[in-house]
Amino acid sequence: MGACLRILLVEDCQNDADLISYTLKRAGCDAQVTRVETEAQFRAALESGSWDVILSDYSLPGFRCEDALHIAHEQNANTPFIALSGTVDEETILNLLRAGAGDYVMKGNLARLPSAVQREIRNAEGRLQRQRLEAQLQQAMKMEAVGRLAGGVAHDFNNLLTVITGFAQLALLDDNPARAGLEQILLAAERASALTRQLLAFSRQQALEPRVFDLNRLIGDMEKMLRRLIGEDIEVITSMSGEPLNVRADPGQIEQVVLNLAVNSRDAMPRGGKLILNTSRRKLEGDAAVAHGLAEQEYCVISVSDNGSGIPASAMPHIFEPFFTTKPEGQGTGLGLSTVYGIVKQSGGSIHAHSELHIGTTMTVFLPASHGAVEELTPYESAPAGSGQETILVAEDESKVLDLVCKCLVGRGFAVLAASSAEAALEILHARGPAGIDLLITDVVMPHIAGPVLASRACELLPNLRVLFMSGYTEDVIRHYGIARRNATFLQKPFAPSELVRKVGQLLDRPPAPEATAGMAKVRQA
Ligand SMILES: Nc1ncnc2c1ncn2[C@@H]1O[C@H](COP(=O)(O)OP(=O)(O)OP(=O)(O)O)[C@@H](O)[C@H]1O
Ligand SMILES: [Mg+2]
Repeated sequence: MGACLRILLVEDCQNDADLISYTLKRAGCDAQVTRVETEAQFRAALESGSWDVILSDYSLPGFRCEDALHIAHEQNANTPFIALSGTVDEETILNLLRAGAGDYVMKGNLARLPSAVQREIRNAEGRLQRQRLEAQLQQAMKMEAVGRLAGGVAHDFNNLLTVITGFAQLALLDDNPARAGLEQILLAAERASALTRQLLAFSRQQALEPRVFDLNRLIGDMEKMLRRLIGEDIEVITSMSGEPLNVRADPGQIEQVVLNLAVNSRDAMPRGGKLILNTSRRKLEGDAAVAHGLAEQEYCVISVSDNGSGIPASAMPHIFEPFFTTKPEGQGTGLGLSTVYGIVKQSGGSIHAHSELHIGTTMTVFLPASHGAVEELTPYESAPAGSGQETILVAEDESKVLDLVCKCLVGRGFAVLAASSAEAALEILHARGPAGIDLLITDVVMPHIAGPVLASRACELLPNLRVLFMSGYTEDVIRHYGIARRNATFLQKPFAPSELVRKVGQLLDRPPAPEATAGMAKVRQA
């Protein structure tokens, strides 16, 4: 039966108690039986520890078995309760079972007791497992709902911020007397944009740039910066797995995860302590996979542990919710862990928190192990302004964004054609004929004809056409529309005009790469 069972026995007769212990022992049941007689002793025993099974004699002087059952359930409804007696009628037994007793064993037939104990323990474990899964499901559904709300708000804000930032930047290009005010607008817009990025991250709707990389290398590269950030009072200990830990994720985002966890640990140790960063490989199978809500496979694991304040049990269910913070006003937004949660989930992983008050906290991040080879980053190319010879067609149904994009590009010397719908863009394409347009910039989500469909039709007309998609929408929506991020160039709204011009320059400078053409083929199927 495994580890030694802790059995609480309510029994006034020592001889009967001995017989019960003996019966269990003879059946190979390793049990430590603690006998109590009175209600006070029973309550004290329940208070003092946890019990695997409660056995209670039915006929006790001054303490009723029904009361013992009631008290036991008040304390922990899941602890199995078995009543014992020599002489009791059927109706009493039925009443006890109805009140929640697991079983009833006659003292004259104690041989049945060991199997009853075993079965009740198994049932209790099953109940506990079910409760855990239900709680997990409820928590996941809650996070899903909050995520949808946060993502929706962030998306609409991004469109507004694109307009605010863009026009403020354009106005700054001229010698504007309102320069100081415009700069303040840009600063505030930048802060707002950082906030919406965090919300999008939480709702798992960021446009990620995943590639295969080694977690050990990433954390190794961060170590110096982390030590500086964490401060001298805290000892940073890293213990990395000896083998490479390749994962496919957005390395910038995974850095953000490690950073947020490390900063939380630092904040939990204001008088110093230890921060341990550990990486390892783990195969999740069976219950362990279910407990983490993950598929059975190999995972690369990062754990961040501290011996700080720990998290109170009452706060535990809320730590991943956006805006939940226990820090004084102005010191925390409560978006750190929700960002971490979103990034990890969007990367196909999961995060688990374990904390003990005044002892410390361990955050464990699981990311699916990748069998692909490490993909190195190509060096960043700076993009020149337009030569004046390239023609760009812009399709965007949001008139203010269309206006902004066109103004930016005209200002940088490009010839620009504006279309306020995909239909208008197609008309322009047909009218201009082959070689009339070098680049199509299109919004992803537009009424009637979506950006990717427009792009695929345009590429049928002009096979060498380059395409830049822009969207404030989410990764999921983008995938749904058929743009594989690896193969298509994409600009996330809100963007600064300088970012737009840089991407355009990159696209026009670079001949269409084979993989970009493959991307177009994908789009064509969409
Ligand atoms: N390592 C930790 N030790 C103790 N408490 C923690 C730890 N990590 C998180 N918490 C608790 O979880 C709460 C939420 O963390 P989260 O990172 O989301 O927000 P924050 O740190 O309060 O603010 P922000 O990260 O936005 O600056 C914290 O306020 C803190 O109470
Ligand atoms: Mg934080």
